[in-house]
Amino acid sequence: MSLLTHIKECSSTNELAMQLALEGAPHGHGVVADRQTRGRGRNKRPWYSDSDNGLWTSIILRPRFPISEFSRISLAAGVAVAEAIEQLIAQSVQLKWPNDIFLANKKCGGILAETSSLTDGSEPFVIVGIGINLCITSDQFPEEIRETATSLYAETSIEVDKLNLYGLIQANLLSLVDLMAHNGFGEILTRWRRRDLLLGKRMNWVTADRQRVKGRGLGVDDSGCYIVESATGEKHQVISGDLNLLI
Ligand code: BTN
Repeated sequence: MSLLTHIKECSSTNELAMQLALEGAPHGHGVVADRQTRGRGRNKRPWYSDSDNGLWTSIILRPRFPISEFSRISLAAGVAVAEAIEQLIAQSVQLKWPNDIFLANKKCGGILAETSSLTDGSEPFVIVGIGINLCITSDQFPEEIRETATSLYAETSIEVDKLNLYGLIQANLLSLVDLMAHNGFGEILTRWRRRDLLLGKRMNWVTADRQRVKGRGLGVDDSGCYIVESATGEKHQVISGDLNLLI
């Protein structure tokens, strides 16, 4: 079976990949859509992807490690994407926890990893959805993200070919998932930490009991959670949510 489904348009490649995975598509099978009509971001936010100037893709993973470790896949995906982009442009890529892709201090991509929730005893799988702005100029972004979003072309003047980038990401991701299955999470964490945009920076975040707390980034711990130190020296382990940089 071909490992890539490339289509002109769909609502969301995550949804299409989920459907293909339920029909039995194998580990590594990817979907690339030139346009998405209902692209989804993290925390139920919309993802601007109704132009064909980006890479909108989802890759099906059937990992050979316990489901309790699946959350680590989104950090591995961040490393896979950052390293793939750097293979094509001569500029370093940063990662903002948990998995925003940053170039020159602006967001150029994001990752939405979703785990299957089957109760029929079949092997669980993960859909890793990846969106990367390739050739979008700032006036093409919706007003509300114009100041904070960027594209590879806007920062480098390089026109990256989407299928070329997809191929590199898919290969990197499969090799990192394989590495995790055989050698654990350590090597991936080391590679993630080299690109940590928040390290030492001031930020705020909203705690589980909805308090807004200010602090400084100390980096990811060995389980992949982010550690933030508040002004009083208290260390908080952030498991999920958004960390907002303060200027
Ligand atoms: C985020 O930063 O909020 C994550 C964005 C993830 C967007 C990608 S585009 C391909 C895939 N399909 C979707 O609907 N979402 C992901």
